[in-house]
Amino acid sequence: MLPASRARGRLVRAAVMIALPLATAASIIAARPPAKLLDNGLARTPPMGWNSWNHFACNVSDSLIRQTADAMVSSGMRDAGYKYVVIDDCWQVARSADGTIQADPQRFPHGIKPLADYVHSRGLKFGIYTDAGTKTCQGRPGTYGHELQDAKTYASWGVDYVKEDWCNARGLDAPTQYAKFRDALARSGRPIVFSICEWGYNEPWEWAPSVGNLWRTTEDIEDTWPSMLSNLDISAQHATVAGPGHWNDPDMLEVGNGGMTDDEYRAHFSMWALLAAPLIAGNDLRTMSAATKTILTNPEVIAVDQDSLGAEGIMVWDTPPELQVWSRRLHDGSAAVVLLNRSTAPAKITASFRRAGLHVDSATVRDLWKHTDRGTFAREFSDTVPAHGAVMLKISPLHR
Ligand code: GLA
Repeated sequence: MLPASRARGRLVRAAVMIALPLATAASIIAARPPAKLLDNGLARTPPMGWNSWNHFACNVSDSLIRQTADAMVSSGMRDAGYKYVVIDDCWQVARSADGTIQADPQRFPHGIKPLADYVHSRGLKFGIYTDAGTKTCQGRPGTYGHELQDAKTYASWGVDYVKEDWCNARGLDAPTQYAKFRDALARSGRPIVFSICEWGYNEPWEWAPSVGNLWRTTEDIEDTWPSMLSNLDISAQHATVAGPGHWNDPDMLEVGNGGMTDDEYRAHFSMWALLAAPLIAGNDLRTMSAATKTILTNPEVIAVDQDSLGAEGIMVWDTPPELQVWSRRLHDGSAAVVLLNRSTAPAKITASFRRAGLHVDSATVRDLWKHTDRGTFAREFSDTVPAHGAVMLKISPLHR
C-alpha cells in the first residue's frame, strides 16, 4: 500500500510534467555551487547486484537469500559484474531492550551475520534496507534516533550496502537525516555503499551527491512499459550530476518479472545502461529463463553501464513523442547510442554522428545486442527498431 504522501505524489506527477520546462529553467538559473562530493571510495561505477523487493516484496528469508547468492554464481551473473545481494524491507521486526535492531527470528533463524558470511563466501557482497523515519514502508522499525547504533550493528554483521527509505518521516528534513546516516556509516568502521531512497521528493540531485553513492530520482518502478519509460524520462532530467561515486537511480530492474516482452526488457536494460544507472536485478534468479539471463548478462551493454568515464547519457534527437536517439560519451572517445522506439509499430530511426556528440564524418558501428560489427558509415546510421524496442550501438570515430 502506498503511504499517503506517496499517493499524493502520484497525483501531482502529471502537473509536474507539464510545468517541467519552466522548472528546469528555474533550477538552472538558481543552481548553487556544488557541495563537496561524497568520497567514501565506493561505487566508482554504478553498483550492480540484486534486491528482493521487486519480485518478493515482504516474502524474504534466509533460504531465499542463500539460494539467490548461489544462483548469482551459477547463472554467471556474478562473473558478469553483479556483486551486491540486498535484502529489502521486512527482514526486521523489533528492537531489543538496548535498542539493537532484531531480524525476524522465523524468517532469519540464524540472524543476519551468518547470512552475510555465506554471501561473502560466494564471492559476493551483502546489503540491507532501513528507513530514515520511525518505521519502514512496511511498518518495521526505522532508523530514526538509532542512526549510529544501526550503522555499527550493520558493520558488525558485515553489511556492505545500505538502502535507506523515506516512509514515516513526516516533518523531518531529508538532507539532514540522510547526512546523519552518511556520518554514522562513516563512523561504523566498514566501507558501506549508501543508497538514498526518497523517490526524488526533496530534489536529491541538489544535495545527495555529497551524501550518498546513489539516490532514487523517481517513485517505485512497476513491471510495465509506461512505468519504465516514466522513470527513464524523470531520471534523465538530472544527467549532469551523475559521475563516479554518485549516481541517479531510476529504480531497480524489472527484467524477467513477466510484465514486459523481451524486446521491452532489452530496451529497459539498454536505457538503464545509457543512463549510467545502478543495475540491480529484481527478478527470481533461481528460475529465470535463458532469455532473461542473456539480457541481464550482456557483456557489451554492461560495459557501457560500467564505463569508467561515468558520464550519464542524454536524449539527442526525437520525433516527439515516440522515436528517439540517446547518446552517452565513453572513455575511449566513442559513444554508446540507443535508438529507442516507444511506438507500437516497427520504425526506422536514424542517428546522426554529430547529434550523438561525435564530431567526425566517418565511424564504425557495432550492434551491442547482435554482437556484430555493422561496418563503417558516413555521417549517420539507420536501423529498423522493433515496436517498444531498442537497438543499442557503439559508434567509434574513424580519425583521419
Ligand atoms: C518503498 C521503496 C521500495 C521498497 C519499498 C519497501 O516503496 O521505494 O523500493 O524499498 O518501500 O517497503
